[in-house]
Amino acid sequence: MNTPSIQIYPDTAALTLAAADHIITLANTAIGERGRFTLALSGGSTPKPVYERLATQRDRIDWTKAQLFWGDERTVPPNHADSNYHLAYETLLKHIEHECGNIQRLRGELDPTLAAAEYETKLRASFPGEALPRFDLMLQGMGDDGHTASLFPHTAALHERERLVVANYVEKLQTWRLTFTVPLINAARQVTFLIAGANKADPLYEVLHGKRQPEVYPSQLIQPVDGHLTLMVDAAAAAKLPQAK
Ligand code: 6PG
Repeated sequence: MNTPSIQIYPDTAALTLAAADHIITLANTAIGERGRFTLALSGGSTPKPVYERLATQRDRIDWTKAQLFWGDERTVPPNHADSNYHLAYETLLKHIEHECGNIQRLRGELDPTLAAAEYETKLRASFPGEALPRFDLMLQGMGDDGHTASLFPHTAALHERERLVVANYVEKLQTWRLTFTVPLINAARQVTFLIAGANKADPLYEVLHGKRQPEVYPSQLIQPVDGHLTLMVDAAAAAKLPQAK
């Protein structure tokens, strides 16, 4: 990762409030400047309370001008407990779906290669004239193995440089995932990682200060070309960082 802005919060409650405010601010800026807000959501446990907080604060965003996508998805139907869409639906979308301009989910119930191709077509249609769609905000998590989106260590998707979305087989999970690719994530105006928990302290240190080895720590591949990179981190996850000492 290159020169990210690192914001450390005392606990996940503080991280959650700040992350929701960050999203609201970016949404209003994007809508003010360009008339719409394009947001790629992530899965995982860290964003759950953030989505819940956004639901309570929903009047602070004009959702009619928001376009929601997902940066990755599990290969399950949308009502499955593991579905990233399901997580966002239960926490946020069901409160805003009647106002929200455009909700585009990755169809995890399809053949993964078809689902990835279908989503790439949808993305191209949603960002006409942009060789690489430029999201206003790409939310990312980081796994304790250093993965982000569904870009897992030692997987083929790490090397994809042409496609926007791919099906990625993850040997250690014995499953397919659907994921945005590195060039698409790095084209965003803003990429924000939400990272919480003591199990992230070592991998976060390695991603930021360890040897560059993106096969091992795929989060190191995330370096926005012409955008901002922000890491919102709780104190437990930040424990090994020099800033925390
Ligand atoms: C997913 C993800 C994934 C996630 C990280 C961190 O579908 O699981 O999008 O990349 O963001 O695994 O997850 P936690 O927030 O649970 O640590």
